[in-house]
Amino acid sequence: MTATILDGNALAKKLRADFKTRAEALLASHGTRPGLAVILVGEDAASQVYVRNKVNACAQAGFHSEKILYAPDVEPQRVFSRIAELNADPKIHGILVQLPLPKHFDSDAVLKAICPGKDVDGFHAENVGALMQGHPRFIPCTPYGVMKFLAEAGIDLKGKEAVILGRSNIVGKPMAMLLMQASATVTICHSQTRDLAFHTRRADILVAALGKPRFVTAGMVKPGAVVIDVGINRLPDGKLCGDVDFAAVSEVASAITPVPGGVGPMTITMLLANTLEAAEREAR
Ligand code: GUN
Repeated sequence: MTATILDGNALAKKLRADFKTRAEALLASHGTRPGLAVILVGEDAASQVYVRNKVNACAQAGFHSEKILYAPDVEPQRVFSRIAELNADPKIHGILVQLPLPKHFDSDAVLKAICPGKDVDGFHAENVGALMQGHPRFIPCTPYGVMKFLAEAGIDLKGKEAVILGRSNIVGKPMAMLLMQASATVTICHSQTRDLAFHTRRADILVAALGKPRFVTAGMVKPGAVVIDVGINRLPDGKLCGDVDFAAVSEVASAITPVPGGVGPMTITMLLANTLEAAEREAR
């Protein structure tokens, strides 16, 4: 079997064209341009790239954006004060603090300082609770992008075995909630899981989000499974690869996302979706 490759760039392009049209309509009807503020603390190279891509995506969709940079040793109080200003700023509908933060920050406290109505990452405890209760205000961008992928590919999730590798707050946990709400039977595996391959081989839908290059091999995948690769790893030669051995697994799976060009572009697309949604809600 050779898998269908789920093209994140193509789906992202289609969705972003729609968001641009909706943003223009909102500007025409209410004089409101969707606005996103992105806060980055420190000089992590990968985070710098992600933040730049987020700001560029805003510009292309006709959104307003602000990039706010701090040195790695910044006094947390300065960041809290800035978040308070952004909470009150009518030009800003979405606020995102790029994670991870330096160790001297209490990340949960920072996320809680963001007004829940502007929390376009969906990481505020109140929004995490709303997602868990089944009426999300903002769906975290990466799992949201994965669900869009599955819907676009026409994959019925009802009664399917979904296995997630990774239990992070950013991907694994919200991914489990969304798949469960779509009536899949969900297993979350993590670093302490015994006999990982036993679980992965049962998966109709396998989501890899553990941050280990090419960890998922062909022998770990059930023939015909849908494989979603959330990993973005940089190899010693500078090339990017996912958590899945793409070449081998695409011979076994029925559908697979590549890295790059799979989930990555969809994460940023769903950030635009959430920011637009926040601006439209405010205008209603
Ligand atoms: N770091 C890695 N992924 C994300 C994300 O989706 N949002 C934020 N804020 N930080 C991240």
